[in-house]
Amino acid sequence: MLSAVERKIEQFIADLNDKEVSRLYTQLPHGKRLRAKLILKIAGSSLSVVKTAAIVEMIHAASLLHDDVIDDAYTRRSKPSLNALYGNKTAIMLGDILYSKGFLELNNISADVAKVISNAVVQLSLGELKDVSLSKTFNLDKELYLEMIYQKTASLMEASAGAAALLAGKPKEAYMIYGRNLGLAFQMIDDILDITADAETLGKPSLHDFEEGKTTLPYIYLYEVLGNDEKEKLRSLHAKKLTEQEQLWIKTIMQKYQVIQKSYLEAKVLIEEAIALMNERGEHALSSIAMQMIERDF
Ligand code: FPP
Ligand code: MG
Repeated sequence: MLSAVERKIEQFIADLNDKEVSRLYTQLPHGKRLRAKLILKIAGSSLSVVKTAAIVEMIHAASLLHDDVIDDAYTRRSKPSLNALYGNKTAIMLGDILYSKGFLELNNISADVAKVISNAVVQLSLGELKDVSLSKTFNLDKELYLEMIYQKTASLMEASAGAAALLAGKPKEAYMIYGRNLGLAFQMIDDILDITADAETLGKPSLHDFEEGKTTLPYIYLYEVLGNDEKEKLRSLHAKKLTEQEQLWIKTIMQKYQVIQKSYLEAKVLIEEAIALMNERGEHALSSIAMQMIERDF
């Protein structure tokens, strides 16, 4: 039923009656539509469910358009990002259009659903700002990192699952915990892949996060176990363009101290908790979505 969501987004875009926006939209890669999948698996495929899934995907797409401008990212899902193709101004405005059209349509669902989703978008924006601020420092505080990824990524997955539960008349708490855990694990794995996956698989340069000033979970764990000289060396490499040799040093030392494995295990625990919660409710399709997340390699 994901195709019904695609058609609904296309219809929302066509409503805008603007040829340039329609053309720009066709250039956006669709991605995995993970949030829409969650919503459909929880709530079926009635019209308001499909609309909610389409709205959430439009908001998500808007946030990535803005994020690529903020992160100076010139690729998205192995293709040139919209800011790379048409510049920042166009990318920002297309984001604003998708976001505001999504909000306009949200008014036609229910007040409860609108509240859950709009609260998540506030969190999303607060999280992105926190990400920007933290990347100006050499952040070593794990709690701050977790709070930031909760806001930036997990809040919209939590809200997607919660909104779907509301639409389906299911108790929203368990579904929200499921969405939250999935979102946290998703971002942790995204951050791990920035280190472990090669640039081709990733569709963006490897170690880009650290070059951008982001100290994600493996860096936080690494710093805890390094000796003083190594600590100093890692600090000196933060937020700068890395040579191949420097990249290799980071990857080798991470391997030596097994911090990728440690970070991955933390994501896995969250996924296992989400799976147990859904198995308890007989929601096996949701358990298998969670399972796919820890198996993904891009
Ligand atoms: C990706 O993080 C970014 C997000 C999940 C959220 C971005 C949110 C905003 C820009 C603010 C809200 C926007 C609107 C339209 C209200 P990342 O850079 O770690 O992931 P990446 O590797 O996919 O780029
Ligand atoms: Mg980014």
